[in-house]
Amino acid sequence: MGDDMKDTIILGIETSCDETAASVVVNGRKVLSNIISSQVKLHAEYGGVVPEIASRKHVELILPVIDNALKEANVTLEEVDAIAVTYGPGLVGALLVGVSAAKALAFSLNKPLVRVNHIEGHIAANYLTHPDLEPPYLCLVASGGHSHIVHIMSYTDFRIMGRTRDDAAGEAFDKIARVLGLGYPGGPAIEKAARNGDPEAFRFPRVKFSDAPYDFSFSGLKTAVINTVHQLGQRGEPLPVEDICASFQRAVADVLVDHTVSAAKAIKAGTICIAGGVSANSQLREIMTQKASEENIRVLYPKLVYCTDNAAMIAGAGFFAFRNGRTADWRLNAVPSLKIGETD
Ligand code: KG4
Ligand code: ZN
Repeated sequence: MGDDMKDTIILGIETSCDETAASVVVNGRKVLSNIISSQVKLHAEYGGVVPEIASRKHVELILPVIDNALKEANVTLEEVDAIAVTYGPGLVGALLVGVSAAKALAFSLNKPLVRVNHIEGHIAANYLTHPDLEPPYLCLVASGGHSHIVHIMSYTDFRIMGRTRDDAAGEAFDKIARVLGLGYPGGPAIEKAARNGDPEAFRFPRVKFSDAPYDFSFSGLKTAVINTVHQLGQRGEPLPVEDICASFQRAVADVLVDHTVSAAKAIKAGTICIAGGVSANSQLREIMTQKASEENIRVLYPKLVYCTDNAAMIAGAGFFAFRNGRTADWRLNAVPSLKIGETD
């Protein structure tokens, strides 16, 4: 953006799952504040997110979190150009808290309201970390709810090349961690345990569909790991948790990388970005970087804090949506099963 153009300040709000978050971002790139109030500890007791508890917590936290985001950015509500909010996909009760807060703020301040698709938010996390990144490129979005290979054609045009047919990659991490008694969320726990394990100790399945080579399936992998755990248990053998974690993590990383790199080759992409909670995984980052470099493709990933749910990525995506005229009116509602690229 040229120096002669006025900066656009976006307040972003995110409440789609178990993080209450608000952030102030300038021109989709520069983060002035990024406040995240995580409910992880609260839900860990139940081994996963309890929707009713999440909604109630969002209601308690949303206003202080927004206040903190403005204070830390040293920006007043009057100085904000637009308010961007996640309206889907996610838990309906959780989404509604953010959407209602954003609507109330936009209405009372007479500011534009911008609707943001959570998955497009994850993709935009890369713009926060890499100032020179511009479309087109290929992005793997792997989180607790989604596993997509997306061709980013412009800041607001997306084409899905592959998706999961059952579990999301992060969901598989969470389920396996639960079976192994490692707690919630599973990704970081499995990554930690895997560090001392042998990734070749178990050969878990890597699924590929001949008719849709970029689609994923993780349910067979999940079942294979669970069966292994049960069989070892029945034989009374000690559970090699670290080896199981390392072998499982390698299997997930292998399929994510294999499908993403072949999709990138198919569209002759020079850049692969990864995004979403699972993009925090260092093994995935490593293997992706190595395999892509063999094809002369560079790999970018967001700073760790922008991988898992946050509002800076929502304010970032909100900037590009706002610039593209994607504002909403007071009828804006939460859309729990919103698909990527859908604007309604
Ligand atoms: O993006 P995110 O915060 O929320 C969704 O939009 O779903 O992603 C959360 C998911 C969880 O399933 C968590 O287990 C996974 O990301 N995750 C990881 C790691 N950190 C978080 N998976 C693998 N390795 C990690 N280091
Ligand atoms: Zn997310």
